[in-house]
Amino acid sequence: MYTGIISAMKEEIQAVIEVLEIESKQVKGMRTYYVGKLYGKPVVLVFSRWGKVASATTATQLINDFKVDQLVFTGVAGAIHKDVQIGDIIVGKQLFQHDMNASPLVETYEVPLLGKTSFLTNQAKRADLMASSKSFLAEIELFLSKELLTEFNIISPKVIESDIASGDQFISNKMQSDKISEGLPTVKCVEMEGAAVAQVCFEYNKPFSIIRTISDNANNNAHVDFPKFAHEIASKYALGILKNYLSLQ
Ligand code: ADE
Repeated sequence: MYTGIISAMKEEIQAVIEVLEIESKQVKGMRTYYVGKLYGKPVVLVFSRWGKVASATTATQLINDFKVDQLVFTGVAGAIHKDVQIGDIIVGKQLFQHDMNASPLVETYEVPLLGKTSFLTNQAKRADLMASSKSFLAEIELFLSKELLTEFNIISPKVIESDIASGDQFISNKMQSDKISEGLPTVKCVEMEGAAVAQVCFEYNKPFSIIRTISDNANNNAHVDFPKFAHEIASKYALGILKNYLSLQ
């Protein structure tokens, strides 16, 4: 059983690549696919670059050329709900494309010809990710020093199961995030890839899962320390959660 693991940025997956026992490295379509064993389990790791097109093509490649049996997306997201803080983990339930709008031909957010406004993650794997994320937070100091957590103002991080919205926009003001919340009230965070990969997995009938570490509040400060957060925090979160998750697969 091969697990495909995607992040959008190199910084988000760097700590995982460093632990991988690499068996081969293949470059296709400007992406590098790392094939190997992670904590004894066969995986293919890749960073897709940002956005829906980049991540959808990468997911398609993973399914068709690397024959992965499931896909897990991991990376950062911006919070658009008051209950969600920087350092929290969101385990995705339904994935929406907040910039999809072919109305009045079809409903707002509906992906034409699929008749769907959202894509559901795999229920059993979502439960595994919830448990894996909770166990990770219980022993977070094995992966991240107290000083580093304090530097990023991460005090008591929690795990939340929630819907996620994706779009080809970095959300950096309240007007943008309010508009998404109004249209999609169950969504607690925004990013730029998850729903595109979820759509590909739906079309190929492959289980899809996603975890996002909250890096910002999708406001004017959203860009501050963004690559640093991805590298020093999110990448370690991904490693710790995947270690637990792969032991369940
Ligand atoms: N990923 C992390 N933060 C984000 C934001 N504010 N908007 C879109 N994608 C993000």
